[in-house]
Amino acid sequence: MQARSAQERRDALVELYHEARGCERCPLHQSRTKVVFGSGNADADLMFVGEAPGYHEDRQGAPFVGQAGKVLESLLGSIGISRHDVYIANVLKCRPPGNRDPQPDEISACEGHLFAQVELIRPRVICTLGNFATKLLSGQPHGITRVHGRAQPRRIAGVDLVLYPIFHPAAALYTPAMMDTLRADFAKLPELLTGVPAAPPPPPPVAREAPAPVAEPEPEYAQLGLF
Ligand code: URA
Repeated sequence: MQARSAQERRDALVELYHEARGCERCPLHQSRTKVVFGSGNADADLMFVGEAPGYHEDRQGAPFVGQAGKVLESLLGSIGISRHDVYIANVLKCRPPGNRDPQPDEISACEGHLFAQVELIRPRVICTLGNFATKLLSGQPHGITRVHGRAQPRRIAGVDLVLYPIFHPAAALYTPAMMDTLRADFAKLPELLTGVPAAPPPPPPVAREAPAPVAEPEPEYAQLGLF
């Protein structure tokens, strides 16, 4: 299949978002306020995958906008990048009641959305945050304590990339000493990003088109945080 252009991938992500918004593949659709599809840069080399939306994410429809998001932003700042440079998604797109753990049937019902996101964004590195994302994307049962900070080459959704598990940022809210471990693991990200061959670039356009005028983001893109 021919690689898609950046614009085609953005459009396909918006389409996926519409699909996910109407998703009723598991009972979590009954209790959600909003589907939390994902947000950030559709051309990102670095993608983060968390566990599931919490209270604030469910209200706002965006991932990592609560306390754990502040920790994530501070960690990103420690390596000189902002959340606008990366793409952020979760294993589950809907909040489990009371923030309980995702259930196996919910993960299987939802994983198709995540794999489709990976296929479109084609990141070089996926940083999994915590046990649920790490186990789903590595396909291994090993817990985060054993595998954090260890880069693993993988093919996920047809994309050759590096999987890089780290502790969930919320862990630092309960155990402040965990921030040192998170910072140390984060510090390895820049090298992983530059040391890995990029996913094949999209083919050059056949005919030259006039560059698109710089305009306000369309409402849908704005909601998705696609830049
Ligand atoms: N924790 C997660 O795993 N994801 C979010 O979006 C927020 C908190």
